[in-house]
Amino acid sequence: MKNIAVIGVGYVGLVTGTCFADLGNRVTCVDVNEERIANLKQGILPIYEPGLEEMVRRNMAAGRLSFTTSYAEALNCPEGSAELVFIAVNTPAGVDGEAELRYVRAAAETIAQTMDHPLIIVNKSTVPVGTGDWVADIVKNKQPKPIPFSVVSNPEFLREGSAISDFMNPDRIVLGSLDEEAAQKVAQLYLPLRGPIMITDLRTAEMIKYASNAFLATKISFINEIANICEALGADVKEVAAGMGYDKRIGRAFLDAGLGYGGSCFPKDVKALAHMANVQGKHPQLLEAVMQINADARRSIVAKVRALVGNNGAHLNRLEGRTIGVLGLAFKANTDDIRESQPIDIIRMVQADGGMVKAYDPVAMPNAAKVLQNVKLCEDAYEVAEGSDALILATEWNEFKNLDLVRIKRMMKQPVIVDGRNLYDPSVMRELGFIYRGVGRGY
Ligand code: UDX
Repeated sequence: MKNIAVIGVGYVGLVTGTCFADLGNRVTCVDVNEERIANLKQGILPIYEPGLEEMVRRNMAAGRLSFTTSYAEALNCPEGSAELVFIAVNTPAGVDGEAELRYVRAAAETIAQTMDHPLIIVNKSTVPVGTGDWVADIVKNKQPKPIPFSVVSNPEFLREGSAISDFMNPDRIVLGSLDEEAAQKVAQLYLPLRGPIMITDLRTAEMIKYASNAFLATKISFINEIANICEALGADVKEVAAGMGYDKRIGRAFLDAGLGYGGSCFPKDVKALAHMANVQGKHPQLLEAVMQINADARRSIVAKVRALVGNNGAHLNRLEGRTIGVLGLAFKANTDDIRESQPIDIIRMVQADGGMVKAYDPVAMPNAAKVLQNVKLCEDAYEVAEGSDALILATEWNEFKNLDLVRIKRMMKQPVIVDGRNLYDPSVMRELGFIYRGVGRGY
Protein backbone atom coordinates (compact mmCIF):
# COMPACT_ATOMS: atom_id res chain seq x y z
CA MET A 1 0.00 0.00 0.00
CA LYS A 2 1.39 3.37 -0.96
CA ASN A 3 0.37 6.99 -0.36
CA ILE A 4 -0.25 8.54 -3.76
CA ALA A 5 -1.16 12.04 -4.94
CA VAL A 6 -2.73 12.59 -8.36
CA ILE A 7 -2.76 16.04 -9.95
CA GLY A 8 -5.75 16.53 -12.27
CA VAL A 9 -9.20 14.93 -12.01
CA GLY A 10 -10.02 14.67 -15.72
CA TYR A 11 -10.55 11.46 -17.69
CA VAL A 12 -7.03 10.19 -16.96
CA GLY A 13 -6.42 11.50 -13.44
CA LEU A 14 -9.76 10.51 -11.95
CA VAL A 15 -9.67 6.99 -13.40
CA THR A 16 -6.01 6.52 -12.43
CA GLY A 17 -6.47 7.79 -8.86
CA THR A 18 -9.66 5.84 -8.28
CA CYS A 19 -8.22 2.59 -9.67
CA PHE A 20 -5.06 2.94 -7.55
CA ALA A 21 -7.34 3.44 -4.52
CA ASP A 22 -9.35 0.39 -5.54
CA LEU A 23 -6.09 -1.58 -5.51
CA GLY A 24 -5.68 -0.65 -1.82
CA ASN A 25 -3.51 2.48 -1.98
CA ARG A 26 -4.28 5.74 -0.17
CA VAL A 27 -4.93 8.33 -2.90
CA THR A 28 -5.50 12.08 -2.74
CA CYS A 29 -6.57 13.75 -5.98
CA VAL A 30 -5.88 17.43 -6.51
CA ASP A 31 -7.40 19.88 -8.95
CA VAL A 32 -7.35 23.67 -9.13
CA ASN A 33 -11.01 23.61 -10.24
CA GLU A 34 -12.82 24.20 -6.94
CA GLU A 35 -16.25 23.31 -8.33
CA ARG A 36 -14.98 19.95 -9.62
CA ILE A 37 -13.44 19.14 -6.23
CA ALA A 38 -16.53 20.25 -4.30
CA ASN A 39 -18.70 18.02 -6.49
CA LEU A 40 -16.33 15.07 -6.19
CA LYS A 41 -16.45 15.37 -2.39
CA GLN A 42 -20.21 14.80 -2.81
CA GLY A 43 -19.54 11.86 -5.12
CA ILE A 44 -20.58 13.87 -8.19
CA LEU A 45 -18.24 13.19 -11.13
CA PRO A 46 -17.17 15.71 -13.80
CA ILE A 47 -17.14 13.01 -16.47
CA TYR A 48 -19.24 10.06 -17.62
CA GLU A 49 -17.28 6.82 -17.49
CA PRO A 50 -19.12 3.50 -17.01
CA GLY A 51 -18.54 2.13 -13.49
CA LEU A 52 -16.51 5.08 -12.25
CA GLU A 53 -19.11 6.76 -10.04
CA GLU A 54 -19.65 3.60 -7.99
CA MET A 55 -15.89 3.04 -7.69
CA VAL A 56 -15.28 6.63 -6.58
CA ARG A 57 -18.01 6.51 -3.93
CA ARG A 58 -16.95 3.10 -2.63
CA ASN A 59 -13.30 4.10 -2.24
CA MET A 60 -14.19 7.42 -0.64
CA ALA A 61 -16.35 5.55 1.88
CA ALA A 62 -13.45 3.17 2.55
CA GLY A 63 -11.19 6.15 3.29
CA ARG A 64 -8.79 5.31 0.45
CA LEU A 65 -9.74 8.19 -1.85
CA SER A 66 -10.11 11.91 -1.15
CA PHE A 67 -10.19 15.15 -3.09
CA THR A 68 -8.68 18.55 -2.42
CA THR A 69 -7.54 21.76 -4.09
CA SER A 70 -4.50 21.85 -1.82
CA TYR A 71 -1.21 20.41 -3.04
CA ALA A 72 0.09 20.50 0.53
CA GLU A 73 -2.81 18.40 1.76
CA ALA A 74 -2.25 15.91 -1.11
CA LEU A 75 1.53 15.68 -0.90
CA ASN A 76 1.75 15.85 2.87
CA CYS A 77 -1.62 14.22 3.59
CA PRO A 78 -2.25 13.68 7.32
CA GLU A 79 -2.38 9.89 6.96
CA GLY A 80 1.19 9.91 5.64
CA SER A 81 3.26 11.81 3.10
CA ALA A 82 2.76 10.86 -0.54
CA GLU A 83 5.63 8.76 -1.88
CA LEU A 84 4.53 9.28 -5.48
CA VAL A 85 2.74 12.11 -7.25
CA PHE A 86 1.15 11.51 -10.67
CA ILE A 87 0.80 14.46 -13.04
CA ALA A 88 -2.38 13.78 -15.00
CA VAL A 89 -3.32 17.24 -16.25
CA ASN A 90 -4.51 17.84 -19.80
CA THR A 91 -2.07 18.68 -22.60
CA PRO A 92 -4.34 20.13 -25.32
CA ALA A 93 -3.10 20.83 -28.85
CA GLY A 94 -1.67 24.34 -29.04
CA VAL A 95 -0.51 26.38 -32.03
CA ASP A 96 0.19 24.24 -35.15
CA GLY A 97 -0.40 21.08 -33.16
CA GLU A 98 2.30 21.49 -30.55
CA ALA A 99 1.17 20.05 -27.19
CA GLU A 100 0.26 22.81 -24.74
CA LEU A 101 2.29 22.18 -21.55
CA ARG A 102 1.27 25.13 -19.40
CA TYR A 103 -0.74 22.87 -17.03
CA VAL A 104 2.16 20.42 -16.71
CA ARG A 105 4.47 23.35 -15.92
CA ALA A 106 2.05 24.68 -13.27
CA ALA A 107 1.78 21.25 -11.66
CA ALA A 108 5.56 20.75 -11.66
CA GLU A 109 6.18 24.20 -10.19
CA THR A 110 3.61 23.76 -7.44
CA ILE A 111 4.92 20.31 -6.57
CA ALA A 112 8.45 21.79 -6.32
CA GLN A 113 7.30 24.61 -4.10
CA THR A 114 5.15 22.37 -1.87
CA MET A 115 7.10 19.12 -1.46
CA ASP A 116 8.86 18.78 1.90
CA HIS A 117 10.16 15.23 1.46
CA PRO A 118 11.64 13.08 -1.35
CA LEU A 119 9.12 12.29 -4.11
CA ILE A 120 8.76 10.21 -7.23
CA ILE A 121 7.10 12.47 -9.82
CA VAL A 122 5.27 10.41 -12.44
CA ASN A 123 4.16 11.90 -15.78
CA LYS A 124 0.89 10.19 -16.67
CA SER A 125 -0.22 12.87 -19.14
CA THR A 126 0.65 12.42 -22.81
CA VAL A 127 3.64 14.73 -23.21
CA PRO A 128 6.07 15.43 -26.06
CA VAL A 129 9.32 13.48 -26.09
CA GLY A 130 11.76 15.27 -23.79
CA THR A 131 9.14 16.60 -21.35
CA GLY A 132 10.40 14.38 -18.51
CA ASP A 133 13.77 16.15 -18.63
CA TRP A 134 11.97 19.50 -18.80
CA VAL A 135 9.86 18.67 -15.71
CA ALA A 136 13.01 17.67 -13.82
CA ASP A 137 14.61 21.04 -14.64
CA ILE A 138 11.51 22.94 -13.51
CA VAL A 139 11.35 21.10 -10.18
CA LYS A 140 15.09 21.52 -9.56
CA ASN A 141 14.89 25.26 -10.28
CA LYS A 142 11.68 25.93 -8.37
CA GLN A 143 12.48 24.08 -5.14
CA PRO A 144 13.13 26.56 -2.31
CA LYS A 145 15.74 24.11 -1.10
CA PRO A 146 17.07 20.91 -2.74
CA ILE A 147 14.95 17.86 -1.89
CA PRO A 148 15.62 14.57 -3.71
CA PHE A 149 13.15 13.54 -6.41
CA SER A 150 12.99 11.38 -9.52
CA VAL A 151 10.88 11.74 -12.66
CA VAL A 152 9.24 8.70 -14.25
CA SER A 153 7.23 8.62 -17.49
CA ASN A 154 4.22 6.30 -17.21
CA PRO A 155 1.94 6.93 -20.23
CA GLU A 156 -1.67 5.78 -20.04
CA PHE A 157 -3.42 3.65 -22.65
CA LEU A 158 -6.99 4.16 -21.43
CA ARG A 159 -9.88 4.36 -23.87
CA GLU A 160 -12.84 6.50 -22.86
CA GLY A 161 -15.84 4.32 -22.20
CA SER A 162 -13.68 1.35 -21.15
CA ALA A 163 -11.07 3.17 -19.05
CA ILE A 164 -11.51 1.14 -15.84
CA SER A 165 -11.26 -2.14 -17.72
CA ASP A 166 -8.25 -0.86 -19.67
CA PHE A 167 -6.56 0.19 -16.39
CA MET A 168 -7.26 -3.09 -14.62
CA ASN A 169 -6.35 -5.25 -17.65
CA PRO A 170 -3.35 -3.48 -19.21
CA ASP A 171 -1.76 -4.88 -22.37
CA ARG A 172 1.45 -3.43 -20.94
CA ILE A 173 2.77 -0.97 -18.38
CA VAL A 174 5.40 1.35 -19.82
CA LEU A 175 7.81 3.11 -17.45
CA GLY A 176 10.68 5.38 -18.39
CA SER A 177 13.26 6.92 -16.04
CA LEU A 178 16.93 7.66 -15.47
CA ASP A 179 16.36 6.26 -11.97
CA GLU A 180 15.78 2.50 -12.20
CA GLU A 181 14.90 2.29 -8.50
CA ALA A 182 12.17 4.93 -8.90
CA ALA A 183 10.78 3.08 -11.93
CA GLN A 184 10.71 -0.12 -9.90
CA LYS A 185 8.74 1.63 -7.13
CA VAL A 186 6.13 2.72 -9.68
CA ALA A 187 6.13 -0.79 -11.14
CA GLN A 188 5.19 -2.18 -7.71
CA LEU A 189 1.88 -0.28 -7.89
CA TYR A 190 0.93 -2.28 -10.98
CA LEU A 191 2.03 -5.73 -9.78
CA PRO A 192 -1.53 -6.75 -8.77
CA LEU A 193 -2.58 -6.28 -12.42
CA ARG A 194 -0.19 -8.87 -13.78
CA GLY A 195 0.32 -7.06 -17.13
CA PRO A 196 3.84 -7.07 -18.70
CA ILE A 197 5.91 -4.20 -17.25
CA MET A 198 8.51 -2.56 -19.48
CA ILE A 199 11.15 -0.23 -18.06
CA THR A 200 13.07 1.96 -20.49
CA ASP A 201 14.38 5.51 -20.61
CA LEU A 202 12.24 8.66 -20.35
CA ARG A 203 12.24 9.66 -24.02
CA THR A 204 11.54 6.16 -25.28
CA ALA A 205 8.57 5.78 -22.90
CA GLU A 206 7.19 9.13 -24.08
CA MET A 207 7.62 8.08 -27.71
CA ILE A 208 5.92 4.69 -27.15
CA LYS A 209 2.75 6.58 -26.25
CA TYR A 210 2.78 8.80 -29.33
CA ALA A 211 3.80 6.01 -31.67
CA SER A 212 1.04 3.74 -30.31
CA ASN A 213 -1.71 6.34 -30.74
CA ALA A 214 -0.39 7.43 -34.13
CA PHE A 215 -0.35 3.82 -35.32
CA LEU A 216 -3.94 3.24 -34.18
CA ALA A 217 -4.98 6.45 -35.95
CA THR A 218 -3.11 5.23 -39.03
CA LYS A 219 -5.08 1.96 -38.97
CA ILE A 220 -8.30 3.95 -38.92
CA SER A 221 -7.25 6.22 -41.79
CA PHE A 222 -6.02 3.17 -43.67
CA ILE A 223 -9.41 1.43 -43.50
CA ASN A 224 -11.17 4.66 -44.40
CA GLU A 225 -9.01 4.91 -47.52
CA ILE A 226 -9.81 1.29 -48.36
CA ALA A 227 -13.51 2.12 -47.81
CA ASN A 228 -13.27 4.89 -50.41
CA ILE A 229 -11.77 2.45 -52.90
CA CYS A 230 -14.36 -0.21 -52.01
CA GLU A 231 -17.17 2.23 -52.85
CA ALA A 232 -15.70 2.75 -56.31
CA LEU A 233 -15.09 -0.95 -56.90
CA GLY A 234 -18.23 -2.39 -55.29
CA ALA A 235 -16.55 -4.25 -52.42
CA ASP A 236 -17.79 -4.28 -48.80
CA VAL A 237 -15.18 -2.81 -46.44
CA LYS A 238 -16.71 -4.54 -43.39
CA GLU A 239 -16.05 -7.89 -45.03
CA VAL A 240 -12.63 -6.69 -46.18
CA ALA A 241 -11.75 -5.75 -42.57
CA ALA A 242 -13.00 -9.13 -41.36
CA GLY A 243 -10.85 -10.92 -43.93
CA MET A 244 -7.80 -8.81 -43.08
CA GLY A 245 -8.29 -9.26 -39.33
CA TYR A 246 -7.69 -13.03 -39.40
CA ASP A 247 -4.05 -12.24 -40.08
CA LYS A 248 -2.44 -12.05 -36.61
CA ARG A 249 0.01 -9.47 -37.97
CA ILE A 250 -2.90 -7.15 -38.80
CA GLY A 251 -5.64 -7.88 -36.23
CA ARG A 252 -9.29 -6.90 -36.63
CA ALA A 253 -9.31 -4.08 -34.07
CA PHE A 254 -9.33 -0.48 -35.23
CA LEU A 255 -10.37 -1.41 -38.76
CA ASP A 256 -13.89 0.03 -38.54
CA ALA A 257 -14.42 2.46 -41.39
CA GLY A 258 -16.66 5.40 -40.62
CA LEU A 259 -16.40 9.08 -39.75
CA GLY A 260 -12.70 8.88 -38.93
CA TYR A 261 -11.25 9.30 -35.46
CA GLY A 262 -12.20 12.06 -33.00
CA GLY A 263 -11.74 12.52 -29.27
CA SER A 264 -9.22 14.26 -27.08
CA CYS A 265 -6.30 11.98 -27.95
CA PHE A 266 -5.82 10.77 -31.51
CA PRO A 267 -6.32 14.15 -33.23
CA LYS A 268 -4.01 16.00 -30.83
CA ASP A 269 -1.42 13.22 -30.52
CA VAL A 270 -1.00 12.73 -34.27
CA LYS A 271 -0.69 16.52 -34.70
CA ALA A 272 1.82 16.73 -31.83
CA LEU A 273 3.97 13.91 -33.22
CA ALA A 274 3.93 15.50 -36.68
CA HIS A 275 4.91 18.80 -35.08
CA MET A 276 7.80 17.16 -33.20
CA ALA A 277 9.00 15.64 -36.49
CA ASN A 278 8.76 18.92 -38.37
CA VAL A 279 10.67 20.78 -35.65
CA GLN A 280 13.45 18.21 -36.10
CA GLY A 281 13.36 18.68 -39.87
CA LYS A 282 11.87 15.21 -40.42
CA HIS A 283 8.90 15.41 -42.83
CA PRO A 284 6.04 13.31 -41.33
CA GLN A 285 4.54 12.42 -44.69
CA LEU A 286 2.56 9.38 -43.47
CA LEU A 287 1.15 11.26 -40.45
CA GLU A 288 0.12 14.14 -42.70
CA ALA A 289 -1.73 11.71 -44.97
CA VAL A 290 -3.40 10.11 -41.89
CA MET A 291 -4.69 13.54 -40.81
CA GLN A 292 -5.86 14.46 -44.32
CA ILE A 293 -7.77 11.19 -44.80
CA ASN A 294 -9.33 11.70 -41.37
CA ALA A 295 -10.54 15.18 -42.24
CA ASP A 296 -11.95 13.89 -45.55
CA ALA A 297 -13.91 11.12 -43.79
CA ARG A 298 -16.13 13.70 -42.12
CA ARG A 299 -16.55 15.74 -45.27
CA SER A 300 -17.54 12.71 -47.32
CA ILE A 301 -20.50 12.06 -45.01
CA VAL A 302 -21.83 15.54 -45.78
CA ALA A 303 -21.09 15.05 -49.49
CA LYS A 304 -23.26 11.90 -49.43
CA VAL A 305 -26.13 13.80 -47.77
CA ARG A 306 -25.74 16.63 -50.27
CA ALA A 307 -25.77 14.20 -53.21
CA LEU A 308 -28.88 12.38 -51.96
CA VAL A 309 -31.12 15.22 -50.73
CA GLY A 310 -29.38 18.46 -51.71
CA ASN A 311 -31.32 20.96 -53.78
CA ASN A 312 -29.81 21.70 -57.15
CA GLY A 313 -28.63 25.17 -56.16
CA ALA A 314 -25.06 26.40 -56.36
CA HIS A 315 -22.45 24.36 -54.44
CA LEU A 316 -23.04 26.39 -51.31
CA ASN A 317 -26.44 26.20 -49.61
CA ARG A 318 -27.08 22.88 -51.31
CA LEU A 319 -28.95 21.87 -48.14
CA GLU A 320 -31.05 25.04 -47.91
CA GLY A 321 -34.55 24.03 -46.89
CA ARG A 322 -33.49 20.54 -45.86
CA THR A 323 -33.80 19.06 -42.37
CA ILE A 324 -30.98 16.67 -41.50
CA GLY A 325 -31.24 14.38 -38.47
CA VAL A 326 -28.04 13.37 -36.65
CA LEU A 327 -28.00 10.36 -34.31
CA GLY A 328 -25.11 10.64 -31.90
CA LEU A 329 -23.01 13.63 -30.77
CA ALA A 330 -20.19 12.00 -28.76
CA PHE A 331 -16.96 11.15 -30.58
CA LYS A 332 -17.74 7.49 -29.95
CA ALA A 333 -20.21 5.38 -27.97
CA ASN A 334 -20.14 5.01 -24.15
CA THR A 335 -18.79 8.47 -23.46
CA ASP A 336 -20.20 11.99 -23.05
CA ASP A 337 -17.06 13.51 -24.55
CA ILE A 338 -17.54 15.75 -27.58
CA ARG A 339 -13.94 16.93 -27.92
CA GLU A 340 -12.96 16.80 -31.62
CA SER A 341 -16.34 15.12 -32.14
CA GLN A 342 -16.95 14.11 -35.75
CA PRO A 343 -20.76 14.49 -35.41
CA ILE A 344 -20.37 18.08 -34.15
CA ASP A 345 -18.09 18.86 -37.11
CA ILE A 346 -20.59 17.31 -39.52
CA ILE A 347 -23.45 19.33 -38.01
CA ARG A 348 -21.47 22.51 -38.56
CA MET A 349 -20.82 21.56 -42.20
CA VAL A 350 -24.52 20.81 -42.78
CA GLN A 351 -25.46 24.16 -41.23
CA ALA A 352 -22.85 25.93 -43.38
CA ASP A 353 -24.65 24.38 -46.37
CA GLY A 354 -27.93 25.93 -45.21
CA GLY A 355 -29.37 22.77 -43.67
CA MET A 356 -31.49 22.69 -40.50
CA VAL A 357 -30.30 20.09 -37.97
CA LYS A 358 -32.07 17.92 -35.40
CA ALA A 359 -29.94 15.72 -33.13
CA TYR A 360 -29.99 13.32 -30.20
CA ASP A 361 -27.37 11.57 -28.06
CA PRO A 362 -28.16 9.35 -25.05
CA VAL A 363 -25.43 10.88 -22.88
CA ALA A 364 -23.51 13.72 -24.59
CA MET A 365 -26.36 16.23 -25.06
CA PRO A 366 -25.50 18.45 -22.04
CA ASN A 367 -21.94 18.87 -23.35
CA ALA A 368 -23.12 19.31 -26.95
CA ALA A 369 -25.70 21.93 -25.98
CA LYS A 370 -22.84 24.15 -24.77
CA VAL A 371 -21.22 24.30 -28.21
CA LEU A 372 -24.07 23.91 -30.72
CA GLN A 373 -26.30 26.73 -32.02
CA ASN A 374 -29.61 26.42 -33.91
CA VAL A 375 -29.77 22.66 -33.49
CA LYS A 376 -33.01 21.09 -32.31
CA LEU A 377 -31.95 18.70 -29.57
CA CYS A 378 -34.48 15.87 -29.37
CA GLU A 379 -35.61 13.36 -26.77
CA ASP A 380 -34.91 10.26 -28.88
CA ALA A 381 -34.04 8.97 -32.34
CA TYR A 382 -37.67 8.99 -33.48
CA GLU A 383 -38.13 12.68 -32.74
CA VAL A 384 -34.97 13.31 -34.77
CA ALA A 385 -36.36 11.26 -37.67
CA GLU A 386 -39.69 13.11 -37.69
CA GLY A 387 -39.79 15.36 -40.74
CA SER A 388 -36.13 14.82 -41.62
CA ASP A 389 -35.00 14.65 -45.23
CA ALA A 390 -32.05 12.47 -44.24
CA LEU A 391 -30.72 10.74 -41.14
CA ILE A 392 -27.00 10.44 -40.32
CA LEU A 393 -25.94 7.63 -37.97
CA ALA A 394 -22.94 9.32 -36.35
CA THR A 395 -22.19 7.53 -33.05
CA GLU A 396 -22.43 3.78 -32.55
CA TRP A 397 -24.61 3.80 -29.42
CA ASN A 398 -26.29 0.43 -28.86
CA GLU A 399 -29.75 2.03 -28.90
CA PHE A 400 -29.21 3.03 -32.54
CA LYS A 401 -28.45 -0.54 -33.59
CA ASN A 402 -32.01 -1.84 -33.35
CA LEU A 403 -34.25 1.09 -34.18
CA ASP A 404 -37.83 0.44 -35.33
CA LEU A 405 -36.89 1.17 -38.93
CA VAL A 406 -40.47 0.90 -40.25
CA ARG A 407 -41.48 3.62 -37.78
CA ILE A 408 -38.39 5.67 -38.66
CA LYS A 409 -39.23 5.46 -42.37
CA ARG A 410 -42.82 6.47 -41.74
CA MET A 411 -41.72 9.53 -39.74
CA MET A 412 -39.10 10.81 -42.19
CA LYS A 413 -39.89 13.22 -45.01
CA GLN A 414 -37.57 11.19 -47.26
CA PRO A 415 -36.32 7.65 -46.40
CA VAL A 416 -32.65 8.53 -46.72
CA ILE A 417 -30.07 7.16 -44.28
CA VAL A 418 -26.31 7.85 -44.33
CA ASP A 419 -24.85 5.28 -41.96
CA GLY A 420 -21.56 6.79 -40.80
CA ARG A 421 -20.85 3.81 -38.55
CA ASN A 422 -21.97 0.97 -40.82
CA LEU A 423 -24.44 -0.18 -38.17
CA TYR A 424 -26.90 -1.57 -40.70
CA ASP A 425 -26.94 -4.09 -43.58
CA PRO A 426 -27.34 -2.35 -46.96
CA SER A 427 -29.51 -5.11 -48.46
CA VAL A 428 -31.91 -5.08 -45.48
CA MET A 429 -32.17 -1.30 -45.65
CA ARG A 430 -32.99 -1.37 -49.34
CA GLU A 431 -35.62 -4.08 -48.81
CA LEU A 432 -37.23 -1.75 -46.27
CA GLY A 433 -37.34 0.94 -48.93
CA PHE A 434 -34.56 3.21 -47.65
CA ILE A 435 -32.13 5.06 -49.87
CA TYR A 436 -29.11 3.85 -47.87
CA ARG A 437 -25.45 4.79 -47.97
CA GLY A 438 -22.87 3.28 -45.62
CA VAL A 439 -19.11 3.88 -45.67
CA GLY A 440 -17.35 1.60 -48.12
CA ARG A 441 -20.24 -0.81 -48.35
CA GLY A 442 -20.07 -1.25 -52.11
CA TYR A 443 -23.15 -0.71 -54.30
C1 UDX B 1 -7.49 6.39 -27.61
C2 UDX B 1 -6.59 5.17 -27.52
O1 UDX B 1 -7.32 4.02 -27.95
C3 UDX B 1 -6.12 4.97 -26.08
O2 UDX B 1 -5.25 3.87 -26.00
C4 UDX B 1 -5.40 6.25 -25.62
O3 UDX B 1 -4.96 6.11 -24.28
C5 UDX B 1 -6.32 7.43 -25.74
O4 UDX B 1 -6.79 7.56 -27.11
P1 UDX B 1 -9.98 7.03 -27.12
O5 UDX B 1 -9.63 8.29 -27.83
O6 UDX B 1 -10.70 7.11 -25.82
O7 UDX B 1 -8.63 6.15 -26.84
O8 UDX B 1 -10.93 6.19 -28.07
P2 UDX B 1 -10.75 5.03 -29.12
O9 UDX B 1 -11.64 3.94 -28.71
O10 UDX B 1 -9.34 4.73 -29.36
O11 UDX B 1 -11.37 5.71 -30.47
C6 UDX B 1 -10.78 6.88 -30.95
C7 UDX B 1 -11.60 7.36 -32.14
O12 UDX B 1 -11.40 6.47 -33.26
C8 UDX B 1 -13.10 7.40 -31.90
O13 UDX B 1 -13.65 8.54 -32.53
C9 UDX B 1 -13.61 6.13 -32.57
O14 UDX B 1 -14.95 6.26 -33.02
C10 UDX B 1 -12.66 6.04 -33.75
N1 UDX B 1 -12.48 4.68 -34.25
C11 UDX B 1 -11.98 3.72 -33.43
C12 UDX B 1 -12.80 4.40 -35.59
O15 UDX B 1 -13.26 5.28 -36.32
N2 UDX B 1 -12.59 3.15 -36.06
C13 UDX B 1 -12.08 2.15 -35.27
O16 UDX B 1 -11.94 1.04 -35.76
C14 UDX B 1 -11.78 2.45 -33.92
